[in-house]
Amino acid sequence: MRLHVNVDHVATLRQARRGREPDPVLWAERALDAGAHGITVHLRKDRRHIQDADVRRLRARIRAVLNLETSLDPEMLAHALESGAEAICLVPETREELTTEGGLDVVREAPRIARALPEFAGRGALVSLFVDPERAQLEAAARLGAPFVELHTGSYAEAATGAPRARELARLLEAASHARSLGLRVNAGHGLNLENTPAVASIPGLEELNIGYSIVGRALFVGVENAVREMLACMGKRT
Ligand code: PXP
Repeated sequence: MRLHVNVDHVATLRQARRGREPDPVLWAERALDAGAHGITVHLRKDRRHIQDADVRRLRARIRAVLNLETSLDPEMLAHALESGAEAICLVPETREELTTEGGLDVVREAPRIARALPEFAGRGALVSLFVDPERAQLEAAARLGAPFVELHTGSYAEAATGAPRARELARLLEAASHARSLGLRVNAGHGLNLENTPAVASIPGLEELNIGYSIVGRALFVGVENAVREMLACMGKRT
């Protein structure tokens, strides 16, 4: 299973002073040196963390898959198409949210997604739809011919340990299995940390985890390389 490290919050720290440091591109290179398989960023319409220049510099400098998260806003889709990212994750986005809340409503957004998919395919980019672990969403993603879904692990991560957490894990397991039976490739992410990742990493057939906030926070204490290596070791600890 691959680990894609989301470097948005390195940029959050830089933007706190609108300065130059810490540089998410240098940080991403160090994450890759430590064994991460790819880098993920979310270019938001409000540019609260990652900036357009970061995406350009990342694509020019990193020798790994760049996964760009984008909303379906036409202006943002145009940026994503020009970015050169070989992986695109379509996410919902609102200005008020602190982070991506809930998955994309693939059923409701089917027309806009159907228009975007061939444009990305034409540029050789693999698209993933960030969805809640619900059958209707997975079935809509398969009907549209999306290559990947990314299962939103936020509800699992936020659930209290014990029965509520076990229920959310069961939803993820069922969704991953259903998605694969529909021919979808499956990633997962959101809210994952050293404590809750091993159970997710044990879900059969998952190809990639996208993890940001917890790795960036941990890196403040132990450094980038150690934070990435700890997470890779954690992913190897299947439950
Ligand atoms: N996957 C998607 C689609 C996301 O939007 C995010 C948050 O930007 C993540 C994964 C990573 O979440 P976290 O920062 O909580 O690890």
